[in-house]
Amino acid sequence: MPDDGLIAIKPEIAAKALVTAERRAAMAEQAATDPDGFWRGEMGRIAWMREPTKIKNTDFTGDVSIKWFEDGELNASVSCLDRHIASGRGDQVAIIWEGDDPASDSKTTYAQLHARVCQLANAMRKLGVKKRDRVCIYLPMIVEAAVAMLACARIGAVHSIVFGGFSPDSLASRIQDSECSLLITADEGRRGGRKVPLKVNADEALKSCPSVRNVIVARNTGTAVAMREGRDHEWAALCDAEPTQCEPERMNAEDPLFILYTSGSTGKPKGVLHTTGGYMVWASFTHELVFDYRPGEIYWCTADVGWVTGHTYIVYGPLANGAATLMFEGVPSWPDNGRFWQVVDKHQVNIFYTAPTAIRALMRDGEGPVKKHKRTSLRILGSVGEPINPEAWLWYYRVVGDERCPIVDTWWQTETGGILISPLPGAVAQKPGSATLPLPGVTPALVDGEGKFLEGATEGNLVITDSWPGQMRTVYGDHPRFVQTYFSTFPGLYFTGDGARRDADGYWWITGRVDDVINVAGHRMGTAEVESALVAHPKVAEAAVVGMPHELKGQGIYCYVTLNAGEEPSDALRKELVAWVRKEIGPIATPDAIQWAPGLPKTRSGKIMRRILRKIAANETDSLGDTSTLADPTVVQELVENRVG
Ligand code: WTA
Repeated sequence: MPDDGLIAIKPEIAAKALVTAERRAAMAEQAATDPDGFWRGEMGRIAWMREPTKIKNTDFTGDVSIKWFEDGELNASVSCLDRHIASGRGDQVAIIWEGDDPASDSKTTYAQLHARVCQLANAMRKLGVKKRDRVCIYLPMIVEAAVAMLACARIGAVHSIVFGGFSPDSLASRIQDSECSLLITADEGRRGGRKVPLKVNADEALKSCPSVRNVIVARNTGTAVAMREGRDHEWAALCDAEPTQCEPERMNAEDPLFILYTSGSTGKPKGVLHTTGGYMVWASFTHELVFDYRPGEIYWCTADVGWVTGHTYIVYGPLANGAATLMFEGVPSWPDNGRFWQVVDKHQVNIFYTAPTAIRALMRDGEGPVKKHKRTSLRILGSVGEPINPEAWLWYYRVVGDERCPIVDTWWQTETGGILISPLPGAVAQKPGSATLPLPGVTPALVDGEGKFLEGATEGNLVITDSWPGQMRTVYGDHPRFVQTYFSTFPGLYFTGDGARRDADGYWWITGRVDDVINVAGHRMGTAEVESALVAHPKVAEAAVVGMPHELKGQGIYCYVTLNAGEEPSDALRKELVAWVRKEIGPIATPDAIQWAPGLPKTRSGKIMRRILRKIAANETDSLGDTSTLADPTVVQELVENRVG
């Protein structure tokens, strides 16, 4: 089969699919010609306290204003909990938790989850947390993470989750930016048999976070941690005596639900802000359509709640749809590299959603660890986070899914709130490596460098021409940055930062970022962040960071470092810099290569020519292009000769 050959829709899937090819076409048609009518028809998938009468009110020009369902009122936690209980599903499992240790797991029903959410919500109110206050969540993959998110939603507080792998500094800057008054953390996290010192990190971060008045500490490993009198509270002591009912706050559809920090091409991470009504409709709509979700099915997304995938496809989407969602604390390779499939069999998982980097790592170990487990419960397989190469796609399809399970390669971003381009299992034939076609209501297009629309089979910058309900509304505290980042490169269009190719069948192939964001093992990283971490080291004068191709991680982090006069390069210093960046940002930013650079290729106006640095890092040194505009072209030769790796 050729790499871009079509894999037909499975008749057995199509016969029972929620959305068939005809239905998809009809939906897309209505969403394009009558968006208000289409979304009025879809908005009933979540529970409203007051039904919206206004549907779409969006403008990508000028100041950029995005409003959906703007006169509606709701509470996200009611859509995820109360209404399932009201319809008699309280005893159904909401969260299956699988611990890092294969011997530990738990099940939480909708009724139990509701009770825990209400207790924490009551406790937070007692601590003085009010509607619109920001609450930082720095937790491992334990049930408390979902409880904390929903408890914030219950009282109208805006959660900002920081991935447990981020350093104290990264945590502190995120808390400071949104002035959180409460931090919810745990004693420790667990990953692959190791412990992550969350409370220790949090204490370090809080030294520079005067806005935080209270800290709630969940017990996970049970290790002794310092508790500051008057500030730190044990979760259980605080919540256990609270009533298991809590009046939900009435929220406007456009009230914020959460902030999630993400890396951009410049400066510090920005607080992507999502609001309540549109996001919830989008989470429910996409989760149901893309995964062809049926009540009663067991659904597992392997992401961490610290990333947007965990927000939309572990918590809000599945719970809005009344699903049983699996939360996994561990890693694919521990205790052995068959762990994913062991968990699939143990919990009889029907829908499985993971990242290409995990697939590539497992593929390296061959079929053995997969074939040791049955996997007969699997029905749909999903991929997210980075482009999936056709080899990995085919391995996932043939080896993991036994050619029985359609693969949904889902393209989206923190900013988009949920999936925008993806096959629907019963409606779209797949091509290995292609995210295929947009969902109904999504209007991608390609433009050239000048913003001119490109037609037909071609490649260019990926833009979205009109709004969809799940779109981010602003950058927290910095609307001008929102407009500048997403709507100024190509005025009137949402610019994704990605490049894409559209083939003769109209299928979309995401080619990767066209800005200075790199994607390391599915984690977004701004090269500027790594550069500023490096130059913060006392011996470093200047640094330039680019992505390089990496067999497992998709992209690796390649750093060019110029030392201060008088400093000598050494292996010890190289190790020190790697450790330094890990400490400054977190282990996900670990440099893969550091090259000593006596000089960097700069234009006469002093701008670093990253194009050349990317080529050298990728070892494509025979296609460096024009270097004649450089202030000093000889630095390039020096860099080529001393390339590392
Ligand atoms: C990349 C993760 C190709 C893309 C949900 C995007 C993908 C960035 C895919 C967003 C995919 C995500 N195929 N590339 N299926 N999914 N990406 O914000 O470059 O962490 O811009 O959101 O990941 O990363 P983020």
